[in-house]
Amino acid sequence: MKNLNDILQFNILILLSILMIQCTGTGAKQNNKTALKSNEMPQITKEMFGTTFNGQAVEKYTLSNSLGMQVDIITYGGIITRWTAPNKDGVFQDVVLGYNSLDQYMESNPYFGALIGRYGNRIANGQFTLNNNTYQLAQNNGKNHLHGGDKGFDKVVWTAEPMPPKDDSVTLKLTYLSVDGEEGYPGNLQTTVLYTLTNENVLDVEYKATSDQETIVNLTQHTYFNLSGDFSNTILDHEITIDADAYLPVDETLIPTGVVADVSGTPFDFRNAKAIGKQINDTNEQLSRGLGYDHCWVLNNQNSGLREVATAYHKDSGRYLEIATTEPGIQLYTGNFLDGTLPSKQKGETYNYRTGFCLETQHFPDSPNQSNFPIVVLKPGEMYNSKTTFKFSTK
Ligand code: GLA
Repeated sequence: MKNLNDILQFNILILLSILMIQCTGTGAKQNNKTALKSNEMPQITKEMFGTTFNGQAVEKYTLSNSLGMQVDIITYGGIITRWTAPNKDGVFQDVVLGYNSLDQYMESNPYFGALIGRYGNRIANGQFTLNNNTYQLAQNNGKNHLHGGDKGFDKVVWTAEPMPPKDDSVTLKLTYLSVDGEEGYPGNLQTTVLYTLTNENVLDVEYKATSDQETIVNLTQHTYFNLSGDFSNTILDHEITIDADAYLPVDETLIPTGVVADVSGTPFDFRNAKAIGKQINDTNEQLSRGLGYDHCWVLNNQNSGLREVATAYHKDSGRYLEIATTEPGIQLYTGNFLDGTLPSKQKGETYNYRTGFCLETQHFPDSPNQSNFPIVVLKPGEMYNSKTTFKFSTK
């Protein structure tokens, strides 16, 4: 009898071990950690990620919800380095491009996952005028200014503070003070970004900023998505919608010409779901200037506050991403500058042409110089407030 009991107990132990291995997940590709943690409370954990070239410590926070979704955020650039989402079979995979080490982010990062400021997108000739003062910013993209300059918000170390977890969400608060004159911009700009992961598989990104002098602000998030969960696939098969009747055509240097163009009958019409690749190689002057899509859409219902503006669907995995924002515009960038030189998170691989897409919610490019665009001026005593949410589901 004793022997029989021992055998039974041994078998039960083996069964339990197998179950545990299945729950923690193995067997997927290098970047594809499964993380089934159902019924757990949402939580935030912290670990060190590295040290910058000038000796600043960089932390990594992992936000987890009760469904098992995880978002890793580092204090360098407020970068989302990993974001797991389930496919239609419940398998969690990392769906955002990035690197495995801080050194790689510091050496050469085409804004993978980063917070962008003070001004997302381009300003012509790096110049703008406020109250009769002309400001010269870095010309870090040909003759234009791009994404905040030489050392934008994507390259600074933010101060992180995890908020006390709630039953249905966790929030990481990041703050950064950009001092008067930093990168040529006027005013001490105090910026707060709140990343909130909810139990509905929603990541909320909320931006707030105040300044002690009149200045310009246009903050965004530059995550590159590949919903297939395998970064060796292109994103050309992802079906996109953008709720916009118009977009902003650009000149040869990707500055809006000022024309607000109807999308009807053009490759820029995403009012009905369409694969990114369907018309990306059409003969079209705008597509040749952007080397693909690298344009800002003029979103509908601009006065409706937070509303759904774009979706992305990857049929094979079933992953479906819905984006809502308070912003008037969204830049679709289709990874046209990825050329196989940057190392992927997947061991031994590199990021090839069009293996990630960005949907960057924002005010329009070059707004300070275009009088018909919504204004981007922040005055002392005012609060800049912007919100974008990313919701994952499957269908
Ligand atoms: C933005 C720009 C693109 C490109 C990428 C980063 O989305 O619009 O032209 O610079 O960032 O490579």
